[in-house]
Amino acid sequence: MIFTTSTTLLSVVVVTLLSSSPSYAFAPTLASRSRRCPMSSLTMHKAAETTATTSTKTTSTDNDDELSSLLDVAIHAAKLAGSIIVTNMEDKTNSITKTKDSSRDLLTLIDPLCENVIRTTILETFPTHDFLGEEDVPPGKEASAAAIDNKLQSLLAAPSSSSSASSTSSQHNRYLWIVDPIDGTTNFVNSIPLCMPSIAVADSSGEICIGVIHDPHRNETYAAIRGRGAYLNGVRIHCRASSGGSSSEEDDDDVLLGDAIIAMGSPPATESMQMSLAALPYLMPRVRTVRMLGSAALMLAWVAHGRLTAYWEYDLSSWDVAAGSILIEEAGGRMTDLNNERWNLRTRKICGSVGGTVHDEILDVLREAGVI
Ligand code: IPD
Ligand code: CA
Repeated sequence: MIFTTSTTLLSVVVVTLLSSSPSYAFAPTLASRSRRCPMSSLTMHKAAETTATTSTKTTSTDNDDELSSLLDVAIHAAKLAGSIIVTNMEDKTNSITKTKDSSRDLLTLIDPLCENVIRTTILETFPTHDFLGEEDVPPGKEASAAAIDNKLQSLLAAPSSSSSASSTSSQHNRYLWIVDPIDGTTNFVNSIPLCMPSIAVADSSGEICIGVIHDPHRNETYAAIRGRGAYLNGVRIHCRASSGGSSSEEDDDDVLLGDAIIAMGSPPATESMQMSLAALPYLMPRVRTVRMLGSAALMLAWVAHGRLTAYWEYDLSSWDVAAGSILIEEAGGRMTDLNNERWNLRTRKICGSVGGTVHDEILDVLREAGVI
């Protein structure tokens, strides 16, 4: 991508920011990796008291430590990007806007800047890990689908640690980072404080094992490790009061469709926008209210937190959803495509909810509306 303004000023802004911020609890250096950040220490501690809700995987202590290191770096990278977002929200000289595929799809200088900071932070600690960032991929759903497909093919083809006993690099290659540097770019451009980085890590089976969504405007860091729960600023969260540790789909606190707060996309692409419009007349009269917040990451995190009942959208890329998907599952919710199959990295039509019968009811309404 080509911008007319020099990036020198931005580099100065970022270097100053990175070297002067007092708020980082740790740095992603080899020395600091041996101690855990407050968030993941708490996560590890609390995880021992809870039962995994969605994963059938057993983890060794080594694997626990490895996942904790991944989480530390993900949180650190997300906070660095979050600081850049906040610093540049009001200063439009640093935020030259271009359009991507359509006049509704925006890009600023800050998007690739945040992505570079995240990438550098990750690769400093894990130089052989693979990385997929939104800004590396040309606009359009075909390019975005092909990008995750290629990355998954090489991830799944990589030798597992058990088949290559002593190779450090093959172990590191078992991970793919999936990053949206600023989810909610239109909000960012308009200084609406609903925009943030979303960072996920997929393991060698293509399953998301780490998810971090850091909301820099509210200082809310959502984080999850597969099988060990979802947390907000280190405190365990559940979609619903009884969703932690329960697999029952008929809990007493099932949300009724009429009480549901449904979030949905106001997407830039024509077909998905038409699907949102088609769903509205069917959904709105049946639920309590509908919200379109303009950041898939935030809406997914808020479903995990129980602030929203569900979020659905007709066409999203892997980087929009990867981190949010694990947050929802680890908070006891449900993450599927619009046919009610479990979400995976190739899924583009998504519904994440607090779980229970309301999930099926929402999909029924979407089917009635002709979206499915
Ligand atoms: C967008 C946001 C928005 C969703 C769009 C996405 P971006 O991501 O997540 O909520 O409706 O479909 O493209 O472009 O701001 O990173
Ligand atoms: Ca996005």
